[in-house]
Amino acid sequence: MSEIHSFGNLPIIAHSWNKDRTQIAVSLGKNDVRIYQKVASKWKLTHTLCEHLSRVLAIDWAPKTNQIVTASADYNAYVWTFENDIWKPQMVELQRTSRAVCCAKWSPEENKFAIGSSDKNVAVCYYEKDQRFWAAEMIKKKPKSTVTCIAWHPNNQLLAIGSCDYRCRIYSAFVKTVDEQARTSNWGKITNTGELLHEFQSESGWIHDVAFSPLGDNIAWVSHNSIIFAVTADNPSRITMEITSYLPFRCIIFMNESTIIVGGHEFSPLIYNYDQRNGTIDFLEKLDRQETSTGRQSIGRLFDQPAMQTQTPEPVSTHQSMITQIVPYQKENGNLKEIVIEAGQELRGDVDETLTVELRSGKAEIFGTELAIGQKYQFTSGMKFAIFTYWGCTVNIISPHEDYYVARDENPMHIYLNVHGMLEQLRQKAETEKTRGPRIMVTGLPDVGKSTVCRMLVNWAARLGRTPILVDLDVGQNQISIPGTIAAMVVRRPASVEEGFRIEMPLVFHYGYKTPGENIGLYNEIISSMAMYVNIRSENVEKSLISGVVVNTCGYIRQEGYESFKHVAKTFDVDIIIVLDSEWLSTKLTSDLPGVKVITLPKSGGVVPKDAAKDKFRENKIREYFYGPRNNICPHVFTIEFNEIKIYKIGAPQIPDSCLPAGMILKNPYNKILPIAASPALMHHVLAVSSSNDPEQLLAKNILGFVVVQQVDSEKRTLTLLSPQPNVKNKLLIVSDISFVDMK
Ligand SMILES: Nc1ncnc2c1ncn2[C@@H]1O[C@H](COP(=O)(O)OP(=O)(O)OP(=O)(O)O)[C@@H](O)[C@H]1O
Ligand SMILES: [Mg+2]
Repeated sequence: MSEIHSFGNLPIIAHSWNKDRTQIAVSLGKNDVRIYQKVASKWKLTHTLCEHLSRVLAIDWAPKTNQIVTASADYNAYVWTFENDIWKPQMVELQRTSRAVCCAKWSPEENKFAIGSSDKNVAVCYYEKDQRFWAAEMIKKKPKSTVTCIAWHPNNQLLAIGSCDYRCRIYSAFVKTVDEQARTSNWGKITNTGELLHEFQSESGWIHDVAFSPLGDNIAWVSHNSIIFAVTADNPSRITMEITSYLPFRCIIFMNESTIIVGGHEFSPLIYNYDQRNGTIDFLEKLDRQETSTGRQSIGRLFDQPAMQTQTPEPVSTHQSMITQIVPYQKENGNLKEIVIEAGQELRGDVDETLTVELRSGKAEIFGTELAIGQKYQFTSGMKFAIFTYWGCTVNIISPHEDYYVARDENPMHIYLNVHGMLEQLRQKAETEKTRGPRIMVTGLPDVGKSTVCRMLVNWAARLGRTPILVDLDVGQNQISIPGTIAAMVVRRPASVEEGFRIEMPLVFHYGYKTPGENIGLYNEIISSMAMYVNIRSENVEKSLISGVVVNTCGYIRQEGYESFKHVAKTFDVDIIIVLDSEWLSTKLTSDLPGVKVITLPKSGGVVPKDAAKDKFRENKIREYFYGPRNNICPHVFTIEFNEIKIYKIGAPQIPDSCLPAGMILKNPYNKILPIAASPALMHHVLAVSSSNDPEQLLAKNILGFVVVQQVDSEKRTLTLLSPQPNVKNKLLIVSDISFVDMK
């Protein structure tokens, strides 16, 4: 969809929008800059900036500071500030510039701007507060021809320029007076202003425009011979280029890290995909999809036939002439913000769509996993996270929404870290005295951050080289396996920020429901089986014994739920119970479990209950199981005959006493193992593949994996299953109450 804004019949040489796009500054190739304002959906000329003596070639409107920089063929640049309804100009002190100033651009933080000129000068300009003028630091290692274009890196300290000597260069634009300290850069060490970091040689062809990707990892430029070039910071010696058959390009921007838009003499903007890994730039589509009436003219044909040189292509697109400039009108996906998080503070996110985080300096962690400097972490819709920093740090965030904030409230991270310190002391003691390390159980009401605290405690332990066993009894949001299970694993390294724990040889038991209350008897019974295995493991592996056990529980604390907590504490023989945010529960557990140390901790203000998010979490967890955390695994879909497998259900339905014959007492049916016939009622249900060959042992044995019923053909007596394996490893399957509809 396109919107057309018209400003007369003259070509627009340069334009720039104000912050909310209600105003636009345009140069129509004259000495002035015209500012139009949208009034009742019409553009009204409100100001004319007249100070230049020749054609205005570049305009850039800084959205936050509301200042405009203009550059002109009169060798000058001006900064315009809006005061009392008047745009006031101030000339920039460009020393030694005695040719046209062709380009000017504000840095992302708007505390400096850069200009490029026909006499090969590049200057980084900033405001000299004391002397109250715009000063310029000239770049010493100048290009060898006219500087045509400029792009700023998102870190505010690198500058890319393109010039008529067929080269694109990256310079340090660090200015001591305005930048407190040099920032980290993936393009090399940033030192003094004007230090040349990279020089990329193109094929012959003037470079008309250059752009950095939103995160600054990629750079691309276009040249007059219709070639698009791109380089990635990981491998700056490899220049990828795409020789196109289109008319010369004049401008280029990145939409995201890989999508490029170019425009120029072709009239229609063209979209390309830059695949940095494979080193390719592929045409995707024309932004303006209208077809040509006479067929496209290639640049080759134009130059072959001199008669056509003056002939312009037929206006077949929304644009009626050459595209001179592309500027993002509205950034939907690429709002990059640099945020400083003070020591002890937390930046919290609740992701609406997608969000990317990059640690730029300092140290920080997400739920106990350290962030690496310069690495990008991506979160998708529904995910919540908190970046905590003990020492202070700076992060870049890209998100189309303001779905994050720095929490100023007291956060309990220091208290949690103290608990970790205490546990580590107990581990050290166990190591010296050759005894058992601490066994902790984390409890509390629903949505107080129990699973998160467990994740942090095992992550911190793993960072010290410990290998604690994490037992997750949270059947609703299990961190180790899919919902409806209880699971345990040895944590050898911290969880991945985006994908959670790397699951190696987990021990998984089938339960089949998303809350313990659905069948509390069964829940307790499989907890006993799990505890037995965990006890054996920790007794046999010294490192596990010393590292201890962390048990996560469900927030189910009604009468039978509370009894279940006690059952967990006893079967796992826990030494310490952490109760989150409930004095009442702490008091009760202290009196009911003498000999166990009960600690009450506050919950974090970042934990906010969200039921819809839980459903999404469950669905994602099952999807991840089949398709991989990055959607990079292709599961199998196959058909199996009814008689090739045996399906069981655990737990008979509760029958009210009134329905039973008088005097009959039904034995507790919670752990009844009932064979069931395959039928359409199984559609979309998860089936757990048991490791047992004996139906009587289904409860006591762990699970090998899961399949989902995708189709039931009662006539052919077949089931179609979605499975990570090409077959079913064992013939005994247990049906779960949890279902998964594969929308792929
Ligand atoms: N400090 C924090 N800032 C922002 N979000 C957080 C923070 N701590 C936890 N969360 C998020 O809050 C949500 C609930 O936390 P968590 O799952 O740990 O609670 P829980 O007590 O285990 O819940 P349940 O009772 O359902 O088991 C999770 O999505 C988690 O990522
Ligand atoms: Mg939980």
